[in-house]
Amino acid sequence: MKLARVTLSDRASAGAYPDLSGPEIERVLRETLGAEHTFLARLVPDERTLIAATLRELCDQEACELVVTTGGTGPAERDVTPEATRDVLERELPGFGEAMRAVSFAKVPTAILSRATAGTRGRTLIVNLPGNPRAIGECLPPLVPAIRECLKHLRGE
Ligand code: MTE
Repeated sequence: MKLARVTLSDRASAGAYPDLSGPEIERVLRETLGAEHTFLARLVPDERTLIAATLRELCDQEACELVVTTGGTGPAERDVTPEATRDVLERELPGFGEAMRAVSFAKVPTAILSRATAGTRGRTLIVNLPGNPRAIGECLPPLVPAIRECLKHLRGE
């Protein structure tokens, strides 16, 4: 499978701090889906049009089966990942965001500040995650069974 991880952060993309969340997505997905998959990695500032263009490229040109984003899902002015994601989605799957907020809220009351969503564009599943590297380990593993099943449906299996 061809997979992609996309980190959305003004500061990480400017080199102000290292991107820890993108590699963490890759680690969790290799551990749960298998080590053999090809990963594309992108690091993009919090610009709606740039994020949407990156997602379109990964879906339409690169034909990734799964694109997981991290960051830009909160309530701050520069947080535009859910808007950019909806710009490119054909069908929204709101259950992903609902589930990650529900599982995280039990541990972290601030989890409900994330507006993360998910959905499909053609045969690609796009899933938003919050930006905190610790949030990846909390949010992503519970979503893996639904990700696996969704990919089967998108392949027509
Ligand atoms: N979810 C989990 N599991 N762990 C966290 O630390 N941080 C929250 C929330 N979701 C967090 C979390 C906070 S403080 C914010 S502001 C939102 O995710 C949005 O983060 P983002 O803008 O980096 O995507």
